[in-house]
Amino acid sequence: MKLKDALNIDDLRTIAKRKLPRMVFDYIDGGSDDEVTLRRAVSRYDDYGMTWRVLKDVAEIDTSTTIMGQDTRLPFFISPTASTRLFHPAEGELAMARAAREHGVIYACSTLATQTVEDIAKANPGPKWVQLYVWKDKEIVKEFLTRAKEAGFTGCLLTVDLAVAGKRERDPRNQFSVPPKPNLSLARQVATKPGWMWDLIRSPKMSPANFSHMIGKGDQGGLMGFVNSQFSRSVTWKDVEWIREFWGPGFAIKGISRGEDAKRAVDVGADAVWISNHGGRQLDTSVPTIDLVPEIAEAVRGRADIIADGGVRRGSHVAKLLMRGATGVALGRASLYGIGAGGEAGVRRALTIIEEEFRSTMALLGATKISELDPELLRIPKM
Ligand code: GLV
Repeated sequence: MKLKDALNIDDLRTIAKRKLPRMVFDYIDGGSDDEVTLRRAVSRYDDYGMTWRVLKDVAEIDTSTTIMGQDTRLPFFISPTASTRLFHPAEGELAMARAAREHGVIYACSTLATQTVEDIAKANPGPKWVQLYVWKDKEIVKEFLTRAKEAGFTGCLLTVDLAVAGKRERDPRNQFSVPPKPNLSLARQVATKPGWMWDLIRSPKMSPANFSHMIGKGDQGGLMGFVNSQFSRSVTWKDVEWIREFWGPGFAIKGISRGEDAKRAVDVGADAVWISNHGGRQLDTSVPTIDLVPEIAEAVRGRADIIADGGVRRGSHVAKLLMRGATGVALGRASLYGIGAGGEAGVRRALTIIEEEFRSTMALLGATKISELDPELLRIPKM
């Protein structure tokens, strides 16, 4: 199958699987423990039935909205994902950022990006946010945020669901690490993926580019080993206070699953509460995010925006999250399957697929603007 023949996100996944070494594909595709959260995230959308309003003029559909103060053409955006050069060794985050700019959606880059915030900003002068993991050393956090701000990032997304890295069993089984270490397993897996291998050989060594000056000193555990050794496990609400104060407005807390935490997030100054289970890569058997949206909305009471992610593979999934009360929806794997399938063009294909599906879902629902995606259109399954 060629990129232009991909009709849906699952087709992009199929192409990505063919093009990427198994360990790299599995790093995108996999989750933690038994991958229950991962599977349920996708299937749960099917349990929410839709009704629709008939005989409405849907010739013009306005999909524009505002997420965390940022006006945007579409209610979804690209979620931060680590080590994007793994999936596209030549450009990584730059390809993702360019696709977002071309498509007119917000791009969010990870703390563990493999390109610098300055280079990403050059590739994408449009709206962009930066995700944050908290380092043990506060000064490193401050330096990183200052650089991101100076480069033109206007939102900070603090991830709070990764005190330790989840147990992702596909990675050790594949002898996977970031950057990939030369071993027999890698050699076997890349033997049939010459395109990826060629790109890897030609491009500079892969590293968490914003911190490359700090890496390599005794770090044997790959990316997750690095995460476990360098990131603080002792982050508390007190830290959130100073980070929010240091960054200023445009601050989201990502990885919330409970109303009381959502309320507290708003109390410490979060402009958006992000309901997420980290793509099923952290605590397994967590509740699907779509189930959680109303109780978080109830706790937040309009004082902050609500971002949600998890298992979004269809435009109708975006619509369902919005109908449940989300303000914006983040796309993680959908854009990663895209980049794996075809670099920047693949990400654009993913965004186009989700946009077209979303527009047609709106038309079929009889909704011409985002505010018309109301919960009454949904039949809620038994919890
Ligand atoms: C990093 O955040 C990952 O989930 O791999």
